[in-house]
Amino acid sequence: MESNSTAKFSSAGARLGQTSLKQSAKSVAKRVIPSRVLQWVRTQQRSLSFWPPIGWVRFVSMRRVEPISQIFGLERGHGIDRYYIEKFIARHAEDVRGAVLEIADNRYTSQFGADRVTQSHVLHVQPGNPRATLVADLTSGNNISSASFDCIILTQTLQFIYDVRSAILTLHRALKPGGVLLATFPGISQISRYDMERWGEYWRFTTRSACKIFEEHFSAVNVSVEAYGNVLAANAFLQGLALEDVRQKELDYFDPNYEVLITVRARKSETEA
Ligand SMILES: C[S@@+](CC[C@H](N)C(=O)[O-])C[C@H]1O[C@@H](n2cnc3c(N)ncnc32)[C@H](O)[C@@H]1O
Repeated sequence: MESNSTAKFSSAGARLGQTSLKQSAKSVAKRVIPSRVLQWVRTQQRSLSFWPPIGWVRFVSMRRVEPISQIFGLERGHGIDRYYIEKFIARHAEDVRGAVLEIADNRYTSQFGADRVTQSHVLHVQPGNPRATLVADLTSGNNISSASFDCIILTQTLQFIYDVRSAILTLHRALKPGGVLLATFPGISQISRYDMERWGEYWRFTTRSACKIFEEHFSAVNVSVEAYGNVLAANAFLQGLALEDVRQKELDYFDPNYEVLITVRARKSETEA
């Protein structure tokens, strides 16, 4: 009768035999089968483990190295980022009241402020904008009085300011106690060439970095940071597709790994100066 140790030894031997057989079959195959065929076989094997397999993805109009639009799809229709921005401000429309400051124009003050707005101010960093009521740089804060605004609408601006911390400090200072800052900026986006050539484009944020930097100036309980987007929205936005190219439910689906637009609502507490 075979002892236990002998049985173990012989099954290990059999395994060794199988392995070396497999190895020699592989090296024979390597020698006789052309490398292109072997590569194809490997690709086929790999492609069985995920979907869609390699070569099955249909890029159709997306297979291009230049985008469909260089200007956020604005020549095609409404910008996808604008859909999210407007959704965010609409949700906080009640905050748009009293003395409101907006950047470069007052489109959201008039769109969402209704009869709650008593004064509409427009800030521009350089002179020459006929809509501007205030020419000032948010970084230095010169020319911006403290505790002046009930609401500041800061859409798509923070990414163009190198010294973000100083700008947030100015915004906090310019708010009246209880005033609200509604800010939006891109997470995933192309560069805005227009802005890059004028004041510069410096940053992309995540919800995490936005939270940290706003909480340096506003108390954490008064800061709420959110994001909008998913992979389809990100692809469409990067290609410069417009709102009219996609379905609303495709934009409304949220995937936290694809932060296309980041929004911040930050309130200055009643007791802060
Ligand atoms: C794309 S516009 C955003 C405003 C517009 N209302 C919107 O919703 O898109 C970017 C603005 O950032 C402003 N900007 C750039 N650097 C600035 C700074 N240091 N201080 C204040 N504004 C600045 C420019 O004046 C420009 O109007």
